[in-house]
Amino acid sequence: MKRVLITGGAGFIGSHFTRLLVKEGIYTVVLDKLTYAGNLLNLKDLESYENFVFVKGDIADREKVEEIVKEYKIKAIVNFAAETHVDRSILNPEPFYETNIKGTIVLLEVAKKYGLRLLQVSTDEVYGPVLTGYADENYPLNPTSPYSSSKAAADLIALSYFKTFGVDVVITRSSNNFGPNQYPEKFIPVIILSLMEKQKIPVYGNGRQKRDWIYVRDNAIAIREVLFKGRSGEIYNIAGNKEIENIELVNKVIKIYENLTGEEWLSTLIAFVKDRPAHDIRYALSTDKIEKEIGFKPTYPFDIALSETVKWYLDNLDWINTIKTRDFEEYYRKNYGER
Ligand code: NAD
Ligand code: TYD
Repeated sequence: MKRVLITGGAGFIGSHFTRLLVKEGIYTVVLDKLTYAGNLLNLKDLESYENFVFVKGDIADREKVEEIVKEYKIKAIVNFAAETHVDRSILNPEPFYETNIKGTIVLLEVAKKYGLRLLQVSTDEVYGPVLTGYADENYPLNPTSPYSSSKAAADLIALSYFKTFGVDVVITRSSNNFGPNQYPEKFIPVIILSLMEKQKIPVYGNGRQKRDWIYVRDNAIAIREVLFKGRSGEIYNIAGNKEIENIELVNKVIKIYENLTGEEWLSTLIAFVKDRPAHDIRYALSTDKIEKEIGFKPTYPFDIALSETVKWYLDNLDWINTIKTRDFEEYYRKNYGER
């Protein structure tokens, strides 16, 4: 399995995963459509590696996917390619169903034809709100947004390809990722960029919603472990085991930012805004299965990883300047009031 196709590898998690594999000497081909979320700067340091190839294209383009599989003798596909932001899915659901469902079906068909392993990168959001306790891999699916319903649909289709056709499918469902290179529509980079630009930090509703956060480098390691050791037809939850309320997270990031920059009184930027429709109150995963079967546990301490992340944005203005669109600013103004 030393020749891997990584779809969506120019995005946030995909680029960290690609770096991990390339540096381990695995022959790695990235296929990415370079939507607003894809950024070649995320892969720039890998350009000189002989075992790294980038191809621009759509996972829904079956011909292109087959061409790559044949030309590079691919043995496994890891599918990160997706439309990924809940708020965008509320604004305009269709691209989510196109890429996240139809695109995944193309990859499954190709995996079936060429006998490949397909690792489908999924999310804890497919379980919907977990009011108490922790969702294990058998927890009922209850997606509440077009984004999460598209991911749940793709998971079920992938499992049906395993059951019906024996395709070697394996699924990871991780909690919220954070770290360098995350597009600033997701919460942690929204907080950091708001602080950098002295804009309001939009906190949806009362800010008491809870998320579990995993550092992106830990998730990349977990996905690699599942790729090589995961059993066919199985789902593996991945989490950082760091559950925190949104408002507490905002306060933590502000403290880190103030310590790094010497600035003060930044909590005055916090603005409670209109809540997201069908906002899931809590996500929480049981990770017993991946710990017992694969031996994976996250290793990066949350506070240190969060501080590294804030520092990365402060140090990478060039990257921030390459962000293709700030159309989300418009969305905030329309939906959540002036920032
Ligand atoms: P991202 O939005 O940063 O990147 C997505 C990448 O996919 C981009 O490079 C984009 O150009 C590419 N892409 C989109 N449509 C494509 C298409 N049709 N063909 C080829 N490439 C296409 O996303 P991310 O946050 O890195 O998430 C990656 C995967 O992990 C997604 O499947 C997401 O559902 C899942 N996930 C993300 C999180 C999180 O917290 N970010 C948590 C759990 C699971
Ligand atoms: P987000 O990063 O969009 O991830 P997800 O919705 O997939 O968990 O949001 C994380 C949490 O932060 C979620 O509860 C929504 C909230 N949030 C805000 O309060 N304000 C914001 O500007 C954003 C983007 C998110």
